[in-house]
Amino acid sequence: ARKDSLSGRHVLVTAGPTHEPIDPVRYIANRSSGKQGFAIAAAAAQAGARVTLVAGPVHLPTPAGVTRIDVETAREMLAAVEAALPADVAIMVAAVADWRTADAAEQKIKKDGSGAPAPLMLVENPDILATLGRHAHRPTLLVGFAAETQTIAAHAQAKLAKKGADWIVANDVSGPPGSSVMGGDDNTVQIVSSRGIESWPSLPKQAVADKLIEKVAHALSASPD
Ligand code: C5P
Repeated sequence: ARKDSLSGRHVLVTAGPTHEPIDPVRYIANRSSGKQGFAIAAAAAQAGARVTLVAGPVHLPTPAGVTRIDVETAREMLAAVEAALPADVAIMVAAVADWRTADAAEQKIKKDGSGAPAPLMLVENPDILATLGRHAHRPTLLVGFAAETQTIAAHAQAKLAKKGADWIVANDVSGPPGSSVMGGDDNTVQIVSSRGIESWPSLPKQAVADKLIEKVAHALSASPD
């Protein structure tokens, strides 16, 4: 994207997984390296935006010019996102855990020796993207991601409406865990909006980020503020 194409804009990005504690030593999480979200934050900063990156637990350096807020759980991520509003653009790339334990144990849970299944009561986490979709300070442009393993475009269309997002960036994460997109350096995405579906070729995650930020800058310049 052009160097100043997002100057004066505030771009809010979530990235990485969330960790939902089971007890002091165990947690529930989704697979996510954070690479795509960090690349998007970097690209937005390069385009001149003020960037707030709300990051789950990942091992990645903070991109130049980006304000990073580290969080652990989905509820912490939501609080950090709401505290960062207003934003012109929000790009929710984090792989948020859909569930957390109803009640994290204060002490390490022990096997009881009987071989019986350990009870794990789960409750739903807040949906951060959907919360922004109906927020009083809804960003002008709201972008979600969708990691799908089948009928990608159809699921993404449904997600647009359900979340109140403007675009869903859908990527195919099918394949054995750790093999392809997740943790890898390349990504193949489709951008789904009310105007249809744009399919991009397989690209390095940084190139996907640059192209997405270029599209964001274009969309903002086309809409009155
Ligand atoms: O429903 P699903 O998890 O597939 O939706 C993915 C999109 O929603 C991503 O943009 C993700 O960051 C966002 N999301 C969220 N909060 C959740 C679950 C998903 O912001 N609790």
